Amino acid sequence: MRKVSINFLKPGMIVARSVYDSGGRLLLAAGITLTENFIKRLSEMGIGSLYVEDEVFVGDVHADDIVSKRTRIKSVKLLKETYHHVENQGYIDTRTVQKAIDELIDEILGSYGTLINYYEIRTYDDYTFSHSVDVCIFSLLTGISLGFDRLKLKELGIGALLHDIGKVKVSKEVLNKPGALTPDELQQIRRHPEEGFNILRRHHDIPLLSAHIALQHQERLDGSGYPRRLSGDEIHKYARVVMIADVFDALTSDRPYRTAYPVMQAVDFIGSLAGEAFEEDYVAALFSNISPFPAGSVVMLNTGEIGQVVKTDKSAPDRPVVRIFFDRQQNRINHPFEIDLSGEPSLSIVHALSEEDISRLPSGSIQSGGSACLGCKRRELPCSQGVPADRALEQSGLKKPGTSG
Ligand SMILES: [Fe+2]
Repeated sequence: MRKVSINFLKPGMIVARSVYDSGGRLLLAAGITLTENFIKRLSEMGIGSLYVEDEVFVGDVHADDIVSKRTRIKSVKLLKETYHHVENQGYIDTRTVQKAIDELIDEILGSYGTLINYYEIRTYDDYTFSHSVDVCIFSLLTGISLGFDRLKLKELGIGALLHDIGKVKVSKEVLNKPGALTPDELQQIRRHPEEGFNILRRHHDIPLLSAHIALQHQERLDGSGYPRRLSGDEIHKYARVVMIADVFDALTSDRPYRTAYPVMQAVDFIGSLAGEAFEEDYVAALFSNISPFPAGSVVMLNTGEIGQVVKTDKSAPDRPVVRIFFDRQQNRINHPFEIDLSGEPSLSIVHALSEEDISRLPSGSIQSGGSACLGCKRRELPCSQGVPADRALEQSGLKKPGTSG
């Protein structure tokens, strides 16, 4: 199974994970074979990528969801209804929201040894809802790692779920506009934190600190955010948690104007702003829950070998189990085998392959793959240990991340 962006989907590919809309309705079932028409329709619906079965990277991928599909769909549906209520009747069913947050907290606490591995597939129209649910999940995970008690988690969760509620006041055309925004449109969007605060503080059942998350989630520690250009301790710690979750989820999502960034690139980007725009300890707390190379991603090792991440572990998030499919000359090998990087200190992941990189790999007949190395327990391949990473990359003809323009 692999996540493939819409531009790289081909007729004949088989859907590996079902896709639902924000109302919980099935858009596309697992097991369906894609046709030209299906792909066109997916693109019209605004779906940026899909999980598909892969003819090269075959076999099971072990990844537990931190939150069950059922709870996630239910939360997205609730949020969509909440937005509609606010738009049409001007009120929030606060009891239902509180109950949903309680359920999310229970489930996340129950699966708290698991790394985030899956990324939801959404239509662009549904982005606001499913994005907010994910921001809530990421924020709760960060809060748990920071040792927040139940009361704090609840305040944090409510605010994180409703952090963008002010967007009901922004026109949908502006929100989903693919191109650059005019100064007037930008100003419209930049009013959403204050609008959200005003909506939330009208509800006495919603904690005032949760409302402050809506108001402050676009501020930045170094004073570069909006609407009030607050800095440092002027920003409440809940908002400092949510702003990181918000940016991380936005980067790893497909948008109308770009495909999702690989998780590792998003981790690097946010890491580069830790201590400036973002609270360093909070960034570390979020990252302790995220697999930089999620199950299903295709990676190159420092030996030049290419494989797929099949299992991740919280004790060593960047050292997963990798199933090797290509030797260091990029020949497909007869019998893929697995390496647990947590037990191989000399081996490491150099980078995750982009769609373009993967499309350039030979998908045809399997090569003999060379003879086994005597004296090396890793069968099927000539021993490739000790090849420096740069040389392995050079040999592969693949680009390093960030050099593809
Ligand atoms: Fe926002």
